[in-house]
Amino acid sequence: METQIRSIEAMDLENKRVFMRVDFNCPLDGGKVADDTRIQAALPSIKLAREKGARLILASHLGRPKGKVNPKYSMVPVGARLAELLGCEVAVPDDCIGDGPKKLVQDLREGGVVLLENLRFHAEETADDADFAKQLASYCDVYINDAFGAAHRAHASVHALPRLVAERGAGLLMQKEVAALTKLLEKPEPPFVAVLGGAKVSDKIGVVDSLLTKVDKLVIGGAMAYTFLAAQGIKLGRSLVEEDKVAIAKRALLKAEARRVQVLLPSDHVVVDEIAADAPSRIETNTDFSDGIAVDIGPNSRAAFEAAIASARTVFWNGPMGIFEMEPFAAGTFHVAQAVAHSGATSVVGGGDSVAALKKSGFLPFVSHVSTGGGASLELIEGKELPGVEALRVPVV
Ligand code: 3PG
Repeated sequence: METQIRSIEAMDLENKRVFMRVDFNCPLDGGKVADDTRIQAALPSIKLAREKGARLILASHLGRPKGKVNPKYSMVPVGARLAELLGCEVAVPDDCIGDGPKKLVQDLREGGVVLLENLRFHAEETADDADFAKQLASYCDVYINDAFGAAHRAHASVHALPRLVAERGAGLLMQKEVAALTKLLEKPEPPFVAVLGGAKVSDKIGVVDSLLTKVDKLVIGGAMAYTFLAAQGIKLGRSLVEEDKVAIAKRALLKAEARRVQVLLPSDHVVVDEIAADAPSRIETNTDFSDGIAVDIGPNSRAAFEAAIASARTVFWNGPMGIFEMEPFAAGTFHVAQAVAHSGATSVVGGGDSVAALKKSGFLPFVSHVSTGGGASLELIEGKELPGVEALRVPVV
């Protein structure tokens, strides 16, 4: 059966109760939203729904409260920030199901907004529970998913729920994210350079495998590079290596060779004897490494990575080059952020740390597409179907 995903733009929302799943999983600090990027990213869909006369029910997860009510993860600060941004009242009931939210939803007027309390206060959300989904479905006439960052989770509000609502579709952010990442895979202008970082090979090996069939150069930094170097027989003192992933890394390097994809690994490193922001550091190379710990890429690696990025017409970047949360070990990550911004290439950046580095360095506006989804963008690039996207499909009539 032929199916399609409808766009919020094409849907009649006038006077309808619209359940919009958003990803408001924002960092909080002292009871306030510390970074409202994800709220801002959902505003176009929220505004459009209100303009179309919807009675809007917004819902999201926040953190991982593991099925228990935990005030630390309440949506109240998010509701307050959203109200400021929209310039209207945003009611936040004390739960996402039950009499409180039901009454608020019933009383909603055209253009009115309710933000349900954290969906993950109920274990049924992550369990993709059918009854929980039914209760949420009872609120609405229309379901819109604009939570790209949660689209890789087969959870009740993104997976079971949309199947219960005939009138369902994708929000503007969801469409923009899927289009930008799909284009990267289907029609990347060469040379295509991917830059991967972060700690774990296990988190990224699927993406490495998929990217090796698409890219011209693969740049690997961060602690995952030490496992790849170990696969080449290079041992870097006490630097983090996932011993059980060395064989996988070796296989990926062989695949790259067979496909003539150039893999760039760091040749020098910022090295410390203990991981602390005030620890004295030195530069060491792969051939003269002590028994220290590598915490960032060194100056030669920075220059090589920058040159590779500068040669690209398409760049994808996910993951920091070192322990960038500690300022003395952030240079490698910031150099990559700068190189991506200056490349003039079509650039797509995903993952919380890379986006934070771009923001902190002021380079964010120079990137073609900044994804709000870390895990979701990686799974899409891996070629996996996203449960939250698939659940939106409706038969073509
Ligand atoms: C994210 O922060 O990547 C999304 O909000 C998904 O959150 P999760 O990893 O806790 O499911």
